[in-house]
Amino acid sequence: MDLRTRYLGLALKNPLIASASPLTGSLAGLRRLEDAGAAAVVLPSLFEEQIAAETALRDRLDDLASGFAEARGFFPEGSLPETGPHHQLELIARARAALDIPVIASLNGVTDAGWTRYATLAAQAGAQAIELNVYFPPTDPRLDSKAVEQRHEDVLGVVKRAVNIPVSMKLSPGFSAPGAVIRRLDAAGADGFVLFNRFYQPDIDLATLRLWRQPTLSSAAEIRPGLLWIGALAGTLRAEIAASTGVETADEVIKYLLVGADAVMTTAALLRHGPDHLRGLLAGLQRWGEARGFATLAALRGRMSRAAGGWPDDADRGDYIALLQNYAAPLP
Ligand SMILES: Cc1cc2nc3c(=O)[nH]c(=O)nc-3n(C[C@H](O)[C@H](O)[C@H](O)COP(=O)(O)O)c2cc1C
Repeated sequence: MDLRTRYLGLALKNPLIASASPLTGSLAGLRRLEDAGAAAVVLPSLFEEQIAAETALRDRLDDLASGFAEARGFFPEGSLPETGPHHQLELIARARAALDIPVIASLNGVTDAGWTRYATLAAQAGAQAIELNVYFPPTDPRLDSKAVEQRHEDVLGVVKRAVNIPVSMKLSPGFSAPGAVIRRLDAAGADGFVLFNRFYQPDIDLATLRLWRQPTLSSAAEIRPGLLWIGALAGTLRAEIAASTGVETADEVIKYLLVGADAVMTTAALLRHGPDHLRGLLAGLQRWGEARGFATLAALRGRMSRAAGGWPDDADRGDYIALLQNYAAPLP
């Protein structure tokens, strides 16, 4: 089966993309992902707070060095933090030189100036596209949904004006009307959507009575919000869609493609099983497609989207009622 697809206007040899994680944070990890068949990689996000911290550190070093000529020798270039923007911009440039697959940079900003600055630097370093990891949990109850949605549009607007490479938005499913928000961002010029991001709400450690935020890895059951919204939107947007969250086996990849995803991202499965797990995902997709007579990915993609008649308009509510009323509860 011909697995070629397009995402963010980039030609991909297959739909599997390694999403941002520690695995994509080193050249060795990126090479292993490319060898295992990844069609593109998203580098770990650069957080605006890190840019600010590194800029402050550089300023302090410059101040010191301007006072004492010999002080320059105490702080050689290599003494800057290994994880800061300096390191990540260098990784973009090195990844571009070393890999044949597209390199997507990820940015998580706070202020308009921060989003713009790193987007520009990432594009200059050679990123072929930028993913905006918008982490904006509106836990302040005075913040209304209009303000949250407007913030997303504003971020997209400032970044689109700053760079001329494709820009995608990695979104949370936590809007009151995700479809309408995504359509507005599509009209505002987003080139792609990552549906969905996975955030880490806190838990409570009952022994210490402290909040506890250890990240947990996703499971395959978590593909359902993505299936629902990709299925509802596929075929109605200008931008391309990458499915994200819950890919454990080839089954989840196939389901996301059937509802209309252009590409499929994975992190947890690769952290759990190693980068070579990608080979199994690709082989499983190939086997399934060929067994059902699909010659190309395009032939199967979106067959189960709402636009293709994959589910009737009244199914959402009707199915809900039937599910609840027909549930056979075991007697105690
Ligand atoms: C350890 C770890 C680090 C991550 N780092 C980033 C990051 O820097 N930027 C980002 O947008 N997402 C990050 N993610 C989220 C993943 O890219 C992905 O969206 C999420 O894990 C859901 O996909 P999955 O179910 O395939 O794991 C990280 C996830 C994990 C587990």
